[in-house]
Amino acid sequence: MFNTLRLQIRFLVPLILTLTAAAYLAQPLLDSLTLRWFSRDLTMRGALVTSAMSDSLAAALESGGKARIQVLFAHAVQDERLLSLGLCSLQGVLLQRSAAYPANVSCAQAQLIAARDVPSLDLESGRVHVSVHPVLQDGAHPADLVLMQDFSFVDRRSQDTRKYLIAFMAALGVVIALITVIVAQLSWRGWVSGARALLRGEGLITPLIGNQRELAPLAADFRDRLRDLEDTYRRSLDRDDHWDPDRLRALLRSQLRGDELIVVSNREPYIHENSDAGVVCHRPASGLVTAVEPVMRACSGTWIAHGGGDADKSVVDGHDRVMVPPGRDEYTLRRIWLTPQEEKGYYYGFANEGLWPLCHVAHVRPVFREADWEMYRRINERFAEAVVTEARSDDPVVLVQDYHFALLPALIRKRLPRATIITFWHIPWPNPESFSICPWRAELLEGLLGSTIVGFHTRYHCKNFLETVDRNLEARIEHEHSTITVNKQTTLVESYPISIAWPDDAERATWPSVSDCRHAVRARLGLPDGHKLAVGVDRFDYTKGILERIHALERLLEKQPQWIGQLSLLQVAAPSRSELEEYKAFQLRIHQLTDRVNSRFDQPDYQAVYLLDRHHDSDAVNELYRAADVCVVTSLHDGMNLVSKEFIAARDDEQGVMILSRFAGAAAELKEALIVNPYHVEEGADALQRALTMPVAEQSERMSNLRATVRDDNVYRWAGRMLADAARWRLRERIDARMQTPSDKS
Ligand code: G6P
Repeated sequence: MFNTLRLQIRFLVPLILTLTAAAYLAQPLLDSLTLRWFSRDLTMRGALVTSAMSDSLAAALESGGKARIQVLFAHAVQDERLLSLGLCSLQGVLLQRSAAYPANVSCAQAQLIAARDVPSLDLESGRVHVSVHPVLQDGAHPADLVLMQDFSFVDRRSQDTRKYLIAFMAALGVVIALITVIVAQLSWRGWVSGARALLRGEGLITPLIGNQRELAPLAADFRDRLRDLEDTYRRSLDRDDHWDPDRLRALLRSQLRGDELIVVSNREPYIHENSDAGVVCHRPASGLVTAVEPVMRACSGTWIAHGGGDADKSVVDGHDRVMVPPGRDEYTLRRIWLTPQEEKGYYYGFANEGLWPLCHVAHVRPVFREADWEMYRRINERFAEAVVTEARSDDPVVLVQDYHFALLPALIRKRLPRATIITFWHIPWPNPESFSICPWRAELLEGLLGSTIVGFHTRYHCKNFLETVDRNLEARIEHEHSTITVNKQTTLVESYPISIAWPDDAERATWPSVSDCRHAVRARLGLPDGHKLAVGVDRFDYTKGILERIHALERLLEKQPQWIGQLSLLQVAAPSRSELEEYKAFQLRIHQLTDRVNSRFDQPDYQAVYLLDRHHDSDAVNELYRAADVCVVTSLHDGMNLVSKEFIAARDDEQGVMILSRFAGAAAELKEALIVNPYHVEEGADALQRALTMPVAEQSERMSNLRATVRDDNVYRWAGRMLADAARWRLRERIDARMQTPSDKS
């Protein structure tokens, strides 16, 4: 703004000065011109006066009446312009003169002056115009009349004209300058906004397409090309790109014009509980929390979640908010309270007895109850209300997490139509046949399609989702672009493999050494340092393949008995959803199996399986990863599984072997792991044998590759890709809106 003003002044001042100078310089020319015009006028006037007086003068001359001529003169000079008159004989003798006629101006002089271009004479009284005219009567020419008329007015007029001219030129300069500046401003603005629009990818389109019906095919074609380009760009996002918290923050601010995120999940990232030592705060066992928490810490904002801890209410403010992580206060946790009845219907019932087994092909029958569904709907509405309350603008960026909130995106969209809603489904999406079991499948799909983006871990789950929508809704599906349009709302369905925050040097510096970890863990179990340990870390859940893992160990000990006494499985099983019968039964079964296997291979100071069914904090889990020879992930079905990635991140010594289920999403990325079918006990046992005997060099080779993958595909990349896609999506929607032809609109 300031610069523009300076520019204008720089332009305006010289222009005015130039025009003023031009006016000043043009003045003499103008003076001489006006002088001639006035002179000619006065000469003509003189001729008129002479002609009017001619008869009277000739008669007076003839009669020799000098007095009569004086009377005529006196009468004539009453005209204020006519100053004096002189009557000359044809011989040049001044016969008569009026009182004011200068005595020293002879008839000859008067003739000479009158012959000039500008016949003027300077007298004491001022400048006079001199003209000589013949006195004519009936063809006779008895004398000449000399007229002296006031010429000083010409100078006065010339001065006035000069003033007016300069003022006029200056004003003209101002007007021209202003017009030029305004035109320049308008075209500059137009140019700038055009350039901006062009940079945003809009500029070319609006003028091209306008509202012209005949351009509709071109518009459609252009739209398609744009999508193709966008798809190619999205899929080719440079793998070498380094993603970290700074880059994520910058992206959020620059591309989504937001300086905060709203995350919604059922499970809260920090749980406050009463203990003998007072209120303690701990992190739950949840892949979702592991992944989303670093993103939230990087971006700040508000995380809305169910306050499930028995001391949660005691630490929140009047708006049910508390800053977390405790002591660091990096973002706001907004807690939503549920009654036991609500939790039973929405969380245990619909989400975990219905949707969880529906989406995990783990051979547990989903249970759908009408009352649970009602509660699920009601709680989704409550969370939608909370999102609206927490949003500081009408277009917030909302990250909806997981199967607890399938209805939430559409509910938010209804209240905040301009919101960017990214829904991430952390668990697998089943094929359309499996999904058709659900009585409320259409409602769930419509709810999810309120999102800007629906994300899954793998392409396979995206494909299942697209097919499920195809079977159940009237929708336009564009497979090549992976989009679904229902009721004019288009949703991008894309895969974003979730990950973890790669530990930085400062964090790694706090870790005990691998040998200290090996020793500490074994010492606690009363085992020697050389004892082989396979480690499993899971929630105590039937989808995790804990049973299959123990069977694989049992089979190995059968086939390779040299490991009896030398090898143990240390299984951490964090208590989970234990209110549910299915979970209770499963947990009991695992305990029984553990007891049976342990007694089968019983030896002094030896246990084949250590089942630690209690919560372990992240330091304890990290110590186990670093102490392990093998990490075993044998999920029967898993969206991603972050335990595998955490194990890899923990092994900066590049040792240790990862055994990974082919039914975990992570198997698509972690190619250097030993991939197994957990249902095949023999294969599991062989993988264990291979891992335990793998040479150090091979372990190192595999682990360094795995580490590079997890480091690059970290959780900031996961969030960054989703946010970047959402930003592009918003832009495309704007472009699409501008490209709407009348037929599109009708
Ligand atoms: C899975 C789900 C998460 C959930 C976690 C723990 O990872 O995808 O949404 O938080 O399990 O389960 P819980 O029921 O204890 O929250």
